[in-house]
Amino acid sequence: FKPPPIKNEPTLEFSKGSLEWDYLKEGILQLTDNGPIDVPLVIGGQKIYDREVVPQVNPSNKKQVLANARQATKDDVQNAITAAKDAKNKWMSMPLHERSAVFLKAADLISTKYRYKMLAATMLGQGKNVFQAEIDAVAELIDFFKFNVTYASELYSQQPLESAPGVWNRAEYRPLEGFVYAVTPFNFTAIAANLIGAPALMGNTVVWKPSASAILSNYVLLEVLEEAGIPAGVINFVPGEPRLVTDEVLDDPCFSALHFTGSTNVFKSLYSKISSNVNKDIYREFPRLVGETGGKNFHIIHPSANIEHAALSTLRGSFEYQGQKCSATSRVFVPESKWEQFKAILSDNMNQIQQTNISSSSGFHGFVGPVIHQQSYDKLSKVIEDAETDPELEIVSGGKHSDSVGFFVQPTLLRTSNADHEYLKTEFFGPIVTAYVYSDAEFSTILHKIDTSTQYGLTGSIFACDRSAIVEAEETLRYAAGNFYINDKSTGAVVGQQWFGGARMSGTNDKAGSANILSRFVSIRNIKENF
Ligand code: ALA
Repeated sequence: FKPPPIKNEPTLEFSKGSLEWDYLKEGILQLTDNGPIDVPLVIGGQKIYDREVVPQVNPSNKKQVLANARQATKDDVQNAITAAKDAKNKWMSMPLHERSAVFLKAADLISTKYRYKMLAATMLGQGKNVFQAEIDAVAELIDFFKFNVTYASELYSQQPLESAPGVWNRAEYRPLEGFVYAVTPFNFTAIAANLIGAPALMGNTVVWKPSASAILSNYVLLEVLEEAGIPAGVINFVPGEPRLVTDEVLDDPCFSALHFTGSTNVFKSLYSKISSNVNKDIYREFPRLVGETGGKNFHIIHPSANIEHAALSTLRGSFEYQGQKCSATSRVFVPESKWEQFKAILSDNMNQIQQTNISSSSGFHGFVGPVIHQQSYDKLSKVIEDAETDPELEIVSGGKHSDSVGFFVQPTLLRTSNADHEYLKTEFFGPIVTAYVYSDAEFSTILHKIDTSTQYGLTGSIFACDRSAIVEAEETLRYAAGNFYINDKSTGAVVGQQWFGGARMSGTNDKAGSANILSRFVSIRNIKENF
């Protein structure tokens, strides 16, 4: 079938006083007016409320409980697995265009009826400003659903090129034999949508463990899919204690794939449990492991770079969404001859950043909001406090933090005198970037250091005008970044334009937003028929 024509979803501007601004205010009020929203488990289409509750608080205003999420028991997880198995045959037997229609309709509903509810849930719950929420929970989410439909139809059309006379060779695109387990992160509503949507589009059924810190937006997403006609049991929503849910799921013989975004350490532990289960012959098929994990993403600035552009790109790469993107810039290497200029531009701009409460309309546009929760706040505060007493670190700009109202950490620029400092290696997942100033002649040495000093390979950027510097960086950093940018920040991949994913310990690099990832969720049968 021929999918509808495709282009990236445009974003609205939300200028003050515009119609969309008013709708957004209304959306926020509607979401919060009647107190916390009850979020059930959804298993086989049944909503279950009679369970222990875990609250989701507004990170800008920690006194405000936004939602109460039910926690799955072991039996619930077993029921979710059974529901996924029961729904499978009917769902996989639908032609691709019928399954596609569900996701195209969901995309349409997000762009129209659910836009403001989705924005409000993502802004309040995950601490995003309106632009970040619009890019994530509207545009990128819609793009994932629509581009996946196009990619899937292209994939299905790939067939064996030759058949001898009297023979017909063909490929049948089946889903995996069992079910898929999706473990989704708090930081992008769109990523959650893709982690469940990509396998489901290919005919799989899914057990979904959403992040407790994104429960509201994720539940809105589920409502949208229900309204778009997803059959009961195709997506089973089981928030809960991560270990409990995961242990039940991974011990099931019909577990076929993990679709994961989260920390490197959690992915490693799931990977090793799965491999030990493989050794115990628990599974019916080798599970596919598709994971996007951590990073220590770099900006390397060459003396030939446009320094203002490099500094402003670092501002955005490091501090947009409080540095809580797996792609966020967290180490920057600046040549000595340009450091003063770079530092002045970056610090001046950092000093103008206002931290805002996203829940009030005066804060909709604020550049920086809160970090996600107390645990993250505590960790980041300690990183800053330790920096204060470390002789190899200097706080160049920022460094304040307070959790009296919400979880606010000021964007912080650190400088280290030690090219091997731990702060150039460890992922903090917050608004902290560490700079190292290298002598201009050491450019090649620094490239090697970037390549070898961390376990990660997610994103990174070279800022340079001199082509030979760009080429040297591309060659030396071949596996240091699955997404490599030349004269652009390390964040902001767009579905269908920059396929996203990292190498090394940053993930399995299956490239979200490309056709490649869909192929991980099919098991092809090749049929040869003699006439
Ligand atoms: N895809 C997101 C980015 O590129 C994580 O920033």
